[in-house]
Amino acid sequence: MDQSKMHRTGLALYPGSFDPFTLGHLDILERACRLFDRVEVTIARNSEKSGFFPTDKRKALIEACSGHLDNVRVVVFDGLLADHAARSGASALVRGLRQVADFDYEFRMAFANRRLAPQVETVFLMPSEEHALITASIVREIHRYGGDVSSFVPEPVLRAMRND
Ligand code: PNS
Repeated sequence: MDQSKMHRTGLALYPGSFDPFTLGHLDILERACRLFDRVEVTIARNSEKSGFFPTDKRKALIEACSGHLDNVRVVVFDGLLADHAARSGASALVRGLRQVADFDYEFRMAFANRRLAPQVETVFLMPSEEHALITASIVREIHRYGGDVSSFVPEPVLRAMRND
């Protein structure tokens, strides 16, 4: 048996805005893929708070960035994440934790989701140190002022940002 797949269990959702999908997101996705049988990257349509890329474009880019992973699907959804998780039979929600500043928001969201869908466990994964300080909003900001974002985003996202 392939050792890297021995301890995978169930379906996990990896929800977020992913606007844009960064190397930090990819790092977390790769870790989740080693832990779970199947991982769904769940793009929340109603979180178009920034609206840099439309959700369908984000979906296409994440698919392009995750072609090397055999257990990923990418879904755009509307509504409450807890409902979607319960409906899809997910056992876990995966969120990346980069730094202390993330805790407050993440804990509130995890407790709310737990109350709404107690059977779904939120699991926090840490990215590699190299990616620990990347945020999508900082990437958008650097790009807005013409800065180089090539060390923050995967190649397909970089190409899309340069062509926008
Ligand atoms: O990448 P983000 O913006 O930090 O992700 C936040 C996201 C999309 C996971 C969150 O806003 C979400 O789950 N939205 C769907 C609506 C919902 O269920 N909101 C209540 C969360 S407690």
